Amino acid sequence: MAVAVEMLNISKFYPGVIANDNVSLSVNEGEILGLIGENGAGKSTMMNMLYGMTQPDEGVIKLFGKEVHIQSPNMAIKLGIGMVHQHFMLMPNLSVLQNIILGNTPTKHGLIDVKQAKNKIEEIMETYDLPISLDEKIYQLSVGEKQRVEIIKALYREAKVLILDEPTAVLTPQETDKLLDVLRELKKRGCAIIFITHKLREVMAITDEIVVMRKGVVTGSLSTSEANTGGLSDMIVGRKVDLEIPRGEYQPGETVLNVENIHALNQRGLPALNGVNLKVARGEIVGIAGVEGNGQAELIEVISGMLRPTEGKVILKGEDVTNKDVRQRREDGLSHIPEDRLGMGTAVNCSIRDNLILNRYYQRPYCKNGILDNKKLHQLSEELCKDFGVKTPDSTYKLGTLSGGNMQKVVFAREMDANPDFLIAAQPTRGVDIGAIESIHHKIMEVRDSNRGVLLVSAELDEILSLSDRILVMYEGEIVAEFKRGEADERTMGTYMTGAKRQGGENNEE
Ligand SMILES: Nc1ncnc2c1ncn2[C@@H]1O[C@H](COP(=O)(O)OP(=O)(O)O)[C@@H](O)[C@H]1O
Ligand SMILES: [Mg+2]
Repeated sequence: MAVAVEMLNISKFYPGVIANDNVSLSVNEGEILGLIGENGAGKSTMMNMLYGMTQPDEGVIKLFGKEVHIQSPNMAIKLGIGMVHQHFMLMPNLSVLQNIILGNTPTKHGLIDVKQAKNKIEEIMETYDLPISLDEKIYQLSVGEKQRVEIIKALYREAKVLILDEPTAVLTPQETDKLLDVLRELKKRGCAIIFITHKLREVMAITDEIVVMRKGVVTGSLSTSEANTGGLSDMIVGRKVDLEIPRGEYQPGETVLNVENIHALNQRGLPALNGVNLKVARGEIVGIAGVEGNGQAELIEVISGMLRPTEGKVILKGEDVTNKDVRQRREDGLSHIPEDRLGMGTAVNCSIRDNLILNRYYQRPYCKNGILDNKKLHQLSEELCKDFGVKTPDSTYKLGTLSGGNMQKVVFAREMDANPDFLIAAQPTRGVDIGAIESIHHKIMEVRDSNRGVLLVSAELDEILSLSDRILVMYEGEIVAEFKRGEADERTMGTYMTGAKRQGGENNEE
């Protein structure tokens, strides 16, 4: 097969950072290249240059053997390059159809030819088994569905080269399997694919070639058939990684969170929670496992104060907070690492520093008589960056310049600095690299070991199993099973997660 993309001796300099230092990679038609490396390694920067979002300072890009200067995404699209971004680039208030044809609308006698567009899209959905309702608005879609729209959009533009930047970070295991099938089909049809991921299992399963980056340089370039996960993690991190987290003895103390018989509706006004009861004690991590969309998001919203339940109570440290707002609950000792860190957790156009202090700008000692003490704020934010390993030259940089994992560290640092009695961690390591996962897991364990409570919600069963003292499984708005640490394995949990089984329920098969 012919070579599709060559990026040769590429360098890209940002103030204070060499994002890419003499990096080369290539990918053939009908081939999948896995691009892996820690957060901040320079992967997205490489791909942003291929997609024309920014230009290299040095080096050459060739497409099907011809040198190209890709000045803009529009030009990249015309050259047959498609990209599914880490953070979706869709218009939330427009429909799926409008988003797909945006900027590439077929016309007939000067009028938009919707029928032709629809036919083409339906053919793509059929070929790759990517069903979606074209009339829904983007904001109504789940993350997995939004990604599907991005992929269809690229295929609609007839991409011959497809870049996917951490596409599985936001997906459930089932959605991930589905995506890998789509990629296999694309490969069969001759598409050249560059696939960025943190998950070595996926790299081993689907790629043909692998390029490993660390701190802007290539630290490994090999065929997947010659690779193994141990060797790859060492190339990624540059040292041996230990994913076993040490934990103190399990000594649950007083109840810090008590959720009683919660009923709630989702955004569309449909029942999402149907009588949820749960408790979290000091000194314990309670994990909630479940396929996404079974009420976990609404449960977190109810506990953190963003969603009013239609029935039931939330009791924090013995006090009924059901009618208190988010800020009051924070002041009562609740911290929350939200799942959607771009939407809810952060402001990308503000500085890292401002993001670190978003939730306490109104408090002393940072604010006296309504005036912010900039020096103190700067000191604090520099310290937090150091403590939590946020990789940035200066905390006055915009948050948007950070990689996904580093943004997550900022959110984490901010929430931990509030010194919570009770922490909600929702998908805390989603899209985060191996080294950062290690440090975030240690920090979560520190919360537990310092006699505070943690509610961990994660779609990663590995994460739930390795951290939790107790595990609850959610299915269709209810807790259908509970396990003590060590009692459950992935397979058993899977049968409850899919609703095939429930403890003590009417369809109990035990
Ligand atoms: N627009 C930008 N301005 C300044 N620095 C940037 C910008 N984009 C990326 N960087 C920096 O370049 C480095 C590589 O980032 P990135 O390519 O996003 O890494 P990865 O995708 O591997 O996590 C990081 O240190 C990041 O902070
Ligand atoms: Mg990236």
